[in-house]
Amino acid sequence: MASKLLSILATSLGPTQARLELKWMQQQARHPAQLTEMVTRRSRGEPLQYILGSQPFGPLNLLTRPPVLIPRPETEHWVIKLADRTSASPTSPKSLLDLGTGSGCIPLLLCHLLPQGSLRTHGVDISPQALDLAKENAAVCGIPPSSPGSCARNTRNTFTATLGNFLDPMFSEDATIDPPYDIITCNPPYIPWHEYLKLPRSVTAYEDPKALFGGPTGLDFYHAIAHLVRQTNFIRPGAVVALEVGHNQAQDVERIMRVHAHVRDTEIWPDPWGKQRTVLAHL
Ligand SMILES: C[S@@+](CC[C@H](N)C(=O)[O-])C[C@H]1O[C@@H](n2cnc3c(N)ncnc32)[C@H](O)[C@@H]1O
Repeated sequence: MASKLLSILATSLGPTQARLELKWMQQQARHPAQLTEMVTRRSRGEPLQYILGSQPFGPLNLLTRPPVLIPRPETEHWVIKLADRTSASPTSPKSLLDLGTGSGCIPLLLCHLLPQGSLRTHGVDISPQALDLAKENAAVCGIPPSSPGSCARNTRNTFTATLGNFLDPMFSEDATIDPPYDIITCNPPYIPWHEYLKLPRSVTAYEDPKALFGGPTGLDFYHAIAHLVRQTNFIRPGAVVALEVGHNQAQDVERIMRVHAHVRDTEIWPDPWGKQRTVLAHL
């Protein structure tokens, strides 16, 4: 039985990866029929993380469910670096807005890594499925929501998730948005049309196109963020905006932040594979 399942997986994954993945599925499956079903789904190209239902993200283990974007290792890398560079303490707590929060991975990891009581985070997403998952992930990680409109100091780091569309020019008027913010984070949909057409089926058939497609050039969402950053009192002086970018987009995004958001100080962080992955704008 196991050798038959292994050979099914090996056809698409190769023998080494097939052995590893079969071991993880065996650890998770409660009965043989479930294991067979997992192998069948995997051999049809479904991402392993959707089959296993979770994905490590730093020290967290986050729930994963289609069609919400699976948190990626390159995102984990810059979020850990951002935590290292952020000085927040319960005596000077920071307020963070995460645009397109998906599974909630970015604010939840920051809440986990920074001192308790130093961070109040708010994740916004257009997808109700993403919001449900982000709230479940917050519960799994033991990160509570903050009470709406509360100015009281929290003793814990908090995460609140609400529905919203940050492409809407009136987004900042939404009652749940509570500026000014000290930190804006965003891993927006950034795949341009010509690249979206070339993505593997294992991505397009399972992950939400709304999480991937960033408009014809892939840059639509960065323009919307620049529009927000430019608004009076949306972010505090000294704030940081951390934006994940796609292939060859870092310079364009730096330019958008400089020209349209009037930011003078920007930097680019590479990912672990040497690709320019995150644009930081310091206000
Ligand atoms: C690339 S995913 C990132 C998800 C998560 N932050 C991560 O890093 O794994 C982009 C997210 O933006 C959300 N999104 C797309 N368009 C949006 C919009 N106009 N307003 C708010 N969220 C949006 C998608 O639903 C998706 O969850």
